[in-house]
Amino acid sequence: MKLIVSFLALFTTVAVQVVVQAGHSFEKLPAQRAAPGRHAAISARNKASSPASASSTASTTSTKALPSASSLTSAPTPPATSSARQPSTSGNGPSNNSGGRPINGLVNVISSKGCGSSGATEKITALSGPNGHINFLTCGINGTGWNPPLINIKGIVTVDLSAVAHQKDSAFANCQDFVATFEQYGSQYGIPAILLASFAMQESSCIPSTVGGAGEQGLMQLTGDKCVGAPNGDCMDVDFNIGAGAMFFSQLLDENDGDLLSSIGHYNGWFRGMTYANATAAAHGGSCREQNNLDYLHQFLNGWCQNINAYEHNPPLGEYFNLNVCN
Ligand SMILES: *[C@@H]1O[C@H](CO)[C@@H](O)[C@H](O)[C@H]1NC(C)=O
Ligand SMILES: *[C@@H]1O[C@H](CO)[C@@H](O)[C@H](O)[C@H]1NC(C)=O
Ligand SMILES: *[C@@H]1O[C@H](CO)[C@@H](O)[C@H](O)[C@H]1NC(C)=O
Repeated sequence: MKLIVSFLALFTTVAVQVVVQAGHSFEKLPAQRAAPGRHAAISARNKASSPASASSTASTTSTKALPSASSLTSAPTPPATSSARQPSTSGNGPSNNSGGRPINGLVNVISSKGCGSSGATEKITALSGPNGHINFLTCGINGTGWNPPLINIKGIVTVDLSAVAHQKDSAFANCQDFVATFEQYGSQYGIPAILLASFAMQESSCIPSTVGGAGEQGLMQLTGDKCVGAPNGDCMDVDFNIGAGAMFFSQLLDENDGDLLSSIGHYNGWFRGMTYANATAAAHGGSCREQNNLDYLHQFLNGWCQNINAYEHNPPLGEYFNLNVCN
């Protein structure tokens, strides 16, 4: 499959669509994927038994084919001024109400916590985007430890999932059938639907039958404790799965007093005070992929949340690429 896709990508622009539709076969792009493991949150990333695993195990060998595919897919990057971009929520969400909506299309920071300016740019680049520069998002990581600036969920720039999911070459093509459900639970919990769908893309490539290495279930890769009450015990049930994932993220925001970066980071095992050494400690052991992906927040907020496929974007989104050593 991968070879076929790559072959087409080399020779025809029609292949752009093919590449996007087959997006999950590229999701394990070593340079950009999120780290598995260490998730106290919804899950570890999908591992051995997931439907994507056949391609993921092949990903190292197919890496060479990726640049050509990526350069073709750079075309669909929406202009930074896209009318689909909008403030994130209706505001009756789980977090407290301080802060406000984005300002002039850029993230509204409540407190930089000594991390300086956000460095946000309208244009999405390797290192920045509307939700802030990667060095701002990872502030402290090289020193005394991660000190996330305070941003709440209303303050981030996101695009509207419904507006982009059905577009040609959407990063969320795999999620198309579930848009209404993401929207429903997003509005119930005050979370932009695209944020929920971004977790689904990261966790399962939006494939409902995904089972993670530790048995995590479905689109949102719920751990067993979050599957209680699933209809007929089916934790992969799309409605249940998205609802439970949304509820969990909403609780996480509450527990963090609305601190969005801490809450998103939690999904990749980040914690306040995490140092570069902490994040990369697993690099030289047998569980290399259990590192925390230090490009994760940038890829999530300036990639997925802008309808950019964080695994395919050219140039790659990030600067640490600490998982590359696992190849
Ligand atoms: C941390 O150090 C790396 C490697 O020197 C550098 O690329 C990155 O910009 C630094 N991050 C921050 C937040 O200063
Ligand atoms: C939540 O409320 C507290 C106290 O009012 C405030 O200090 C904090 O900045 C708020 N957090 C967010 C993300 O708005
Ligand atoms: C992070 O690194 C510090 C310093 O090496 C260490 O003391 C601490 O235990 C680490 N924390 C975690 C959770 O690994």
